Amino acid sequence: MALKWVVGAVGMAALLAALVPVAVTWIEHQQAKDLAGREPYAARAHTGRRVAVVYFSRSGNTGLAARHIANTLDADLFELKAPDYRLGLAGWSHAMRDARGTEADISPRTIDLSGYDEVYLGSPIWLYAPAPPIRAFVEHNRFDGKRVVLFNTYNSEFKPGFIAAFKVRVVERGARSFEHKAVRRGRMTAQLPPEAMLREIDEAWSLVEPAVAREANVE
Ligand SMILES: Cc1cc2nc3c(=O)[nH]c(=O)nc-3n(C[C@H](O)[C@H](O)[C@H](O)COP(=O)(O)O)c2cc1C
Repeated sequence: MALKWVVGAVGMAALLAALVPVAVTWIEHQQAKDLAGREPYAARAHTGRRVAVVYFSRSGNTGLAARHIANTLDADLFELKAPDYRLGLAGWSHAMRDARGTEADISPRTIDLSGYDEVYLGSPIWLYAPAPPIRAFVEHNRFDGKRVVLFNTYNSEFKPGFIAAFKVRVVERGARSFEHKAVRRGRMTAQLPPEAMLREIDEAWSLVEPAVAREANVE
């Protein structure tokens, strides 16, 4: 009798473990569909400071944040594609497997950033760290003399140690300053709607602060 209970409990646990990735990837698909058409990027006249926004996004949240930043700052926008981590179960399991790595198959691998004063680097958080595609981008590019801002979207938690390690690499690759911005979207069952995420970015990230004030606040 006891054995029957144990087998039942183990079976139930295995079923739940199998269902979690299915549910997570289903939610990611819904988000990606919903977010794709929001706030399209509008390339503009480049009147002020020269800013590049480079980002990786799997399910569209960092992508929406990136378009919003680029539109707000009149910036050039570059998306990093990483086919290993495409939406779906296979991409999700590759993301879990590689989550803390600093290498990834990305396209483009290099971008000529020499004409920019500021570079925003966007990424989701995977297993408490910025995802491998943006870390790989840092490894293959130079940021000489630039203000670099890492921005992350995440559900509930990241570890500052991974951000500190990211900063070290960015500075080693030439950046003159580094800042970190992050927006917490909440756990999967109760997440910030996209409009609220953008509102929070506008309120908390000081995107359009004058340059002098920004430099004074660099972390
Ligand atoms: C493989 C994987 C690992 C994740 N790990 C974390 C984590 O450690 N902490 C967290 O708060 N969110 C984690 N998330 C959630 C994402 O960071 C969050 O949903 C993010 O906003 C997704 O951005 P995107 O839509 O641009 O891909 C993880 C997501 C994936 C796919």
